[in-house]
Amino acid sequence: MSAAASLDELVARLRTAKHVFILTGAGVSAESNLPTFRDPGGLWDHHRPEDLASPDAFAKHPARVQSWYAHRRRAALDAQPNAAHHAIAQLAQHMPDLTLVTQNVDGLHQRAGSTQVLEIHGSLHRWHCSNTGEPIDDSALDAQLPANPDDPPMRSPSGTGYARPAVVWFGEGLPTDVLAEAEAKARTADIALSVGTSALVYPAAALPLIAQHAGAFTAEINPQPSAIAHQLDASITQPAGIALPQLSRALTG
Ligand code: OAD
Repeated sequence: MSAAASLDELVARLRTAKHVFILTGAGVSAESNLPTFRDPGGLWDHHRPEDLASPDAFAKHPARVQSWYAHRRRAALDAQPNAAHHAIAQLAQHMPDLTLVTQNVDGLHQRAGSTQVLEIHGSLHRWHCSNTGEPIDDSALDAQLPANPDDPPMRSPSGTGYARPAVVWFGEGLPTDVLAEAEAKARTADIALSVGTSALVYPAAALPLIAQHAGAFTAEINPQPSAIAHQLDASITQPAGIALPQLSRALTG
């Protein structure tokens, strides 16, 4: 089926859907000029995840990990939500029930107006003490996070640990309450949409399949078919910033 025909079918189904579930990944922020992980030139092209996104890396070299996340936090704050983020926020206002689950940690969905976003991989915008879990103010982050790996690492205000971002690292579990809510919402969805994710990282990648297993119509929006595209009911091979505004206009315009 062509991308246009898939989009038409999705629009028709969305007109009568009661519970819509959307999972997003880094591709939804690509048009805000934030790099994805696995596309050419992506974050994992330049870095090994185990050197930057693991408890072990943080224990060995806190400043290296902090400066990498400080750079990503700054890039996310400097970026603007794009047409895809806005279209999802708009859709939510017109659907009886829309659940938005994101693997992204950039906060762009919220800045586009989406509320109650389930951030299953955490957020670049919340930091806490690695020892006590005590939250750390944004103003302290701006002043103290190291810009370079060779700068001194930022200690937490209590001085007993280091500042760490509330993101999920390799080897760590997802926040259990957030994941449980995402899975419950997937099970009750009429339609599940997977947008801008390679669907290589579990348990996130399983969410559209959980929805499908429970009876939902499933589709993805991704210029390159993801690892689960062949299992889904429809695949719209377009950038999110093109397909989602079309979808939103057709339903809300
Ligand atoms: P990936 O980098 O693995 O995949 C990005 C996907 O976005 C690819 O399938 C691209 O084809 C697609 N894409 C690129 N541009 C797009 C556009 N304009 N519109 C729509 N899609 C586009 O990123 P994720 O799937 O999000 O985990 O990665 C999953 C997890 O792996 C991340 O949350 C992160 C990473 O390791 C943690 O940090 C825990």
